[in-house]
Parts: sequence; C-alpha cells; structure tokens
Amino acid sequence: MKPFTITSFEEYKEVYQDSIENPASFWEKYAKTFDWHAPWDEVHSGSLDEGNVKWFEGGKFNITENCLDRHLEEHGDKVAFYFEPNASDDIKRGMTYSDLHEEVCKFANVLESKGIKKGDRVAIYMAMTTELAIAALACARIGAVHSIVFAGFSAQSLADRINDCDAKLLITNDGLERGEKLVPLKEISDEALEQCSTIENVIVCQRTDTDINWNDDRDEWWHLLMEGAAIDHEAVPMDAEDPLFILYTSGSTGKPKGQVHTCGGYMIWTSYTMRNVFQVEEDDVYWCTADAGWITGHSYIIYGPLLNAVSGIIFESTPTHPDPGRLWKVIEKHNVTHFYTAPTAIRALMKEDIKYVNNYDLSSLKVLGTVGEPINEEAWHWYDEKIGNGNCPIVDTWWQTETGGIMISPLPGVTKTKPGYATLPLPGVQPALMDDNGNEITETQAQGDLVIKQPWPGMTRGIWGNKERYMETYFTKYPGNYFTGDGCRRDADGYYRITGRVDDVLNVSGHRLGTAEIEDAIDDHPRIVESAVVGYPHDVKGEGVYAFTICEGEISDPEAFKKEVNDLITRQISPIAKAGKVQIVSDLPKTRSGKIMRRILRKVAANETDDMGDISTLLNPEAVEQVKSGKAY
Ligand code: PRX
Repeated sequence: MKPFTITSFEEYKEVYQDSIENPASFWEKYAKTFDWHAPWDEVHSGSLDEGNVKWFEGGKFNITENCLDRHLEEHGDKVAFYFEPNASDDIKRGMTYSDLHEEVCKFANVLESKGIKKGDRVAIYMAMTTELAIAALACARIGAVHSIVFAGFSAQSLADRINDCDAKLLITNDGLERGEKLVPLKEISDEALEQCSTIENVIVCQRTDTDINWNDDRDEWWHLLMEGAAIDHEAVPMDAEDPLFILYTSGSTGKPKGQVHTCGGYMIWTSYTMRNVFQVEEDDVYWCTADAGWITGHSYIIYGPLLNAVSGIIFESTPTHPDPGRLWKVIEKHNVTHFYTAPTAIRALMKEDIKYVNNYDLSSLKVLGTVGEPINEEAWHWYDEKIGNGNCPIVDTWWQTETGGIMISPLPGVTKTKPGYATLPLPGVQPALMDDNGNEITETQAQGDLVIKQPWPGMTRGIWGNKERYMETYFTKYPGNYFTGDGCRRDADGYYRITGRVDDVLNVSGHRLGTAEIEDAIDDHPRIVESAVVGYPHDVKGEGVYAFTICEGEISDPEAFKKEVNDLITRQISPIAKAGKVQIVSDLPKTRSGKIMRRILRKVAANETDDMGDISTLLNPEAVEQVKSGKAY
C-alpha cells in the first residue's frame, strides 16, 4: 500500500487528529514526497479572518513535472489517459505517460512561440479530448494561468470569462459532437471574440469537419503548429503561491466569479484526496465522467490522477449516447475499477430499462463515487445494488469549486457508509455547523450552516480581481471561518449530510447556477418588467429552474413566451440554465424594504402552499394569493 494512504478506521482517526493538531508538520511530510526545485519558507501563513491564507510560499516547483516527468522512469509506458470518443466503438485509444509528456512539452513550446509567458491568462474552450488536458498542462508548464470554459457555455459567457481575466490566447476546436448534437465551437468563439480585445491568437484543434471562418491574422491550426514543435521543454519554476488556474463559478449575486487556485496547495490537496478517497492501485482504471470545464474535471480527471500516476479515461460523449447503456459499456470495455459520477446521471439512468445495465459485465468495479449534489437514498441503493453489485463502497464526496478538492467523504473500505451522507471530514478539514446567531453548534446531532474552521492547502486564494467580493462571500458571515453556502445536518455518529445551498445558488443536474445571472438574462426580454428565479424539486435534475415574471401587457401565447425566455437564457448563459417552468405574475411578494421574498416563491415552486409562514410583514400580502393561484408553463 502506498504511503500516506489510510487503510483502517483506527488509522483514519489518528491521522485526522494529527492533521488538525499539527497541520504544518502533517502537510510538510506529505509535500516532501514531491519534486521541488527549492524548499518553502513556511508551510502555511495567513488566516481565514484576513482571507490571506498561503501554503508552501517560497517553494519552487512545476506541477507538470510532478504529474509527468516524475513518473517517466517507472511509469513511462503506463497509460495516462484512454480517450473514449463521442461515437461508440471497440477501439482502445491509450496515451502513455511518455506520450503525454511529449505532447505537453511540444504544446508548451507552441504557446511560448506565440509569446505566452508566465502569468499570462489562456482561455480553453474545447471538446472533452486528450488535447484539452494537453492544453491545460502546457499552460501550467510555462506558468500561464489557464481558464477552462465549459464547452456548453454560450458566446456571451465565453466573452465574459475572457474579458474578466484579460486572456491573451484562446484554444478551441472547430466543433464538437456531443451525442447527436454538433456544437460549432469556432463559430461561437468568433462571436465571443467580437467583444474581446485582449485575445491575440486563437489555436484551433480539429475535431470535426465543421465549416469554419478563418481569420489569417489570428487563427492557427493546432496540428500545424505541433508539427514543427520541439519535444524538449524545461518547465518554468513556479512559486507555490503563483496562480495555476482560474475557474469561473456562480454565486448568489452578479456574474460568475473567477476562483483562483495556486500551484502548491492545489497540488498537495488534489493528490492527497485522490489517493485516499479512491485508493487506486497500480493496474486499476479510474473513470470520472465529469467535464473538464468544471472543477471535478480539473481535480479528478487531470491533476489528481496524473499526480498519482493513475490510468484515467477522457470521455467525450454523454451517458445516453448512442443509448442509455453507454456508461456501462465503457466500464466493461476498459475494465474500469473506479467510477465517479453525478447523482443526476444515476437518477436518469435508473429510469431506463435494466437491460442497459445487465447487458454489460461490471465485475471489474471496486469503488463507486458521487459528486456535485445530494444523492437521494433511492439512487444510492440503485447505484450500490445494480452497478456495484452490493460490494463496491460508495464514496459520496462533498466539495466545491472553492475547496479545490474533496473535503468530506467516506474512504472506501475504511469508513462505514450511510446512504445520503458524505460522512466524515478528510484529514486537514475541520467542519462546523453554525446557528442563526452565528454561533457554532456544539451538540453532535444538529443542523446548521456548514463552515470550515481551519485553512486547508487546496482552498481558493481569491476571486480574480475582486478581493472585496472574496471576503464578503466567504469570510464575513461567520468571521474566522470559511462559509460554504451549504446547509448541513450532522447525525449522532458525527456524520455530515449536505442538505443543499442556503443562498441564491441553484444546483441543476450538478451544475451550479446563480439565480441573479439567470434573472439578468431573462430581464432582457422586451416584455419583462421584473423577474425572480428560484429552484424547484426535480426528480432527475435534483433542482429545476422556476422563473416568475412580471410582464408588460397581456401575454397571449405563454408557451411561445416560455420559449423566448429560454432562448435568452441559452444565448446569454447556456442551455443548462433553461427554465423548466415559467409563470407570469402581476406582482411579486416583497418585504417593506422592497426585497423579493424568495422563501414564498420557493414554496409555490415546490407546490407546498399549505403553510406559507408569516406573511404579515410583506409590503403586498395580496401578491401571495395571486402567485399561488397562477399557472406555470
Ligand atoms: O451544494 C454543494 C453541492 O455542490 C456545490 C458546489 O458546486 P461546484 O462548486 O460546482 O462544485 C461541484 C463539484 C465539487 C456545493 O456547495 N455539492 C457538491 N458535492 C456534494 C454537494 N451536495 C451534496 N452532496 C455532495 N456530495
């Protein structure tokens, strides 16, 4: 068994205690197992009060040397990634650690030849292919900060993200195929770039036969640039606290904010959590079905697995293409041992005929994981019985874009699991529950707002260009703690169960969306005067988007109106944020200070209108009845 991998519950308790009491020596020991060019000055400094936490500052290294170069001698011929394309077939496409190293070095040289240097920002808007990982790693190798934008986002979202961090270069594909759909990535990029003045070069990686427009001054083909690139590249030494990447995520107000993760702490956190939560052995094949456009893809498709010399899979397709047996087929094809997915996929697939599961041999599986949203017990049991055959531990992993890696999760074979519970904190994580008065709840069995009391290496170091927002979002409500935005229950065994967001953030199919950004998009409709978006329970997506709108004049065709609203959302954000329900109202319930009472709208959206709570303090109590009796489309 590898060192630093916990193998018994007794050991977990000891290691956990040590990590909380002696964080510096605990993380220093682990950090020393990596390759550094120069040691750090201090293991950690700063505080959650000040929002200035640092880990391993002064330490010099490059994360890609630890992901790739370090493994070449022992694991050079081992597969780093199997690529599983959109179209299903029986061909295994493995890229070894040596091949990946070579490609990353070549692309690092390409980026440098385009004038990209340490600290520059590079936007990546690509299909889920091996080239996406190569692009990200090449940025990391030269010290450029990558900003991966999920390829399901609109031109507007891409432009907003490019402009927020002044990205200099964009890497994209001509197009991508996702299921039956063709997404014209280059065309969307061209549209986005009409609004962006900082992009100097666009590198286009060919993936489809999509017809594209070409701008000779700006666009170049990936394959042509790679043909002439040298295969040697000396990685640029980075300070542990230099930014590694920016990843945009939604909050309760305004546009998505760029979370900044730094090289050192993020490396330590993703590698340690990967090793312990999945416990992947030498010949195992690990598969995380996320998209690299989200944090799960960053941490548990790219960095965490590579840091541990694991063989992983990059999956371009969807769980239902060409049929709902696709995930199970891929497990059989690659003898997958570790499978990590979102509850929403499980809920969707459990509705399908069981023959789609039974057609395949899933006996290679050892560990199953879930992430991104609460998993209901029915889905947990189906996953356990039908996919895991009752003998694969399920790791329900709770974490966030901001946390960099997994925070609360069972360790397979170590922690006794309980359906719906993320169970216990990982070493280095000190969770607490807070009451409405801002005090920590000390009883074991309790419910409250989830905070983290102690800094951990993988935590976000900031919101790009917005320190004030960073402080306000995470460190103000419960001073001295990091506020997660999640509500949580703790049972008598001290197990944690995440109940969902307590702020205006929705979780739709595991995708994090801010109600404010959806409202902003909707409000551009010429007939809409005001809107309010809340979530409603959805049996597959977990949560759906419910939009209440006040309109000017009569809307004669509400179905057509709903489509117009959703076209706006698609154009400005992404189809993932589309409203499942739209209700036209003449008024919205408001407090005397003019704030929309979302609590009431949530009840209406959930169809729980028997008890509306205290409405006596409303400015317009009559609005409640009117909203209650309205019809949603
Ligand atoms: O509400 C929690 C939910 O997802 C949110 C974080 O979303 P994001 O930053 O997009 O990262 C998702 C992937 C890590 C959290 O605030 N969440 C995440 N994991 C779980 C979860 N809710 C319940 N159980 C989980 N295991």
